[in-house]
Amino acid sequence: MKETRRDDRYATSEKFATLRGIREAARRKLSDTSWNYLHCGTGDEITARDNVAAFDRYLFDAPLFTGVKNPDTRTSVLGYELSFPAFTAPFGGGETLFHPDGMLAVGRAAHAAGIRQIVPVAAAHSLEEVRAASPAAAIFQMTFCGEETAVIDMIHRAKDAGYDYICVTFSPIRQWRERMMEDRFSIPGQGEPSNFGPGKSDIAMLAELLDFTKPRWGWDEAARVIAASPLPCIVKGIGSRADAYRALKAGAVGLYVSNYGGRTVDRVPAAIDTLADVREEAGPDVPIIFDSGIRRGSDIATAIALGANAVALGRIAALGLAADGEAGVKRVLELLRDEFWTTLGHLGCSSVSELSPHIFRRR
Ligand SMILES: Cc1cc2nc3c(=O)[nH]c(=O)nc-3n(C[C@H](O)[C@H](O)[C@H](O)COP(=O)(O)O)c2cc1C
Repeated sequence: MKETRRDDRYATSEKFATLRGIREAARRKLSDTSWNYLHCGTGDEITARDNVAAFDRYLFDAPLFTGVKNPDTRTSVLGYELSFPAFTAPFGGGETLFHPDGMLAVGRAAHAAGIRQIVPVAAAHSLEEVRAASPAAAIFQMTFCGEETAVIDMIHRAKDAGYDYICVTFSPIRQWRERMMEDRFSIPGQGEPSNFGPGKSDIAMLAELLDFTKPRWGWDEAARVIAASPLPCIVKGIGSRADAYRALKAGAVGLYVSNYGGRTVDRVPAAIDTLADVREEAGPDVPIIFDSGIRRGSDIATAIALGANAVALGRIAALGLAADGEAGVKRVLELLRDEFWTTLGHLGCSSVSELSPHIFRRR
């Protein structure tokens, strides 16, 4: 990633000066239907909104004369050296509505930014293509559904392609997304090759999810597949102590706190409000990724202070993709990293590891 000037001058020759500019460009480029697809939550979208609003309730204490001139945003998580504590989140099944290069563009931007990508199974491009496009493509998100052997086969494929970890997701049934219902929207077949072989798009995968004749998944099945997996597994969707406990017991090497941006079920708590409990349950050494609601650099600082090792960037990265493809995602990452940098400096933290709940005002 090109070094941006980190001084007090606000002039920039960049196409987008701020994340707001990127959001506005994305809005101009996307149809109403695609915009709704990107932003929709489920039900009344209470969780989707609260994920973001909840960050406003964590107020910083920025004591005088403790600022740091050049804080270090780098961190190490899951064995990766990251230029700042972030991954791109998996967003698949419709991502080519934002840009035809979809996950290829996201992976290249992540590489340029010095971070890693979590690649969704439902992507338009095959896991091999995405991996070949960028060394940042490191973690493969796999939905545990259908036949166990098919899931294990897919994990072997991901290993052969060069992925290091599996991000395990679970989705028992389709989601109640009224914006998409009103738009009569169905995720378009995204062409081939997808991960499901010739003639089978990500749509086939989603159809499979809805097939109730297929075996049902519980923690026992998940534990069995995690044990048989040739790659270490990180379980996504953690939002409580109980799920953290079960996931670790099932063999997870890492936890991924997320409510999928409020896209699965409404009226679950804002993800950020669950993070501290999950960290307490997991203890200090288990790697934790966090997503759902990250919109700016100061949100990243909040999540790290509450116990995450890194965040994942979903809608905010997708907006960059929609605004300007790979360059748009890269600019999003650059702006987030630089805002995170200034946040660290003003909070008196010289490195990521100095972020802890002490940065918050006592209520
Ligand atoms: C358009 C879109 C598609 C998504 N597809 C997937 C997916 O295929 N697999 C997955 O694990 N999560 C998926 N997610 C959820 C994201 O990985 C992430 O959890 C969520 O975007 C976080 O919320 P935020 O974007 O509001 O921060 C998707 C999210 C969006 C916005």
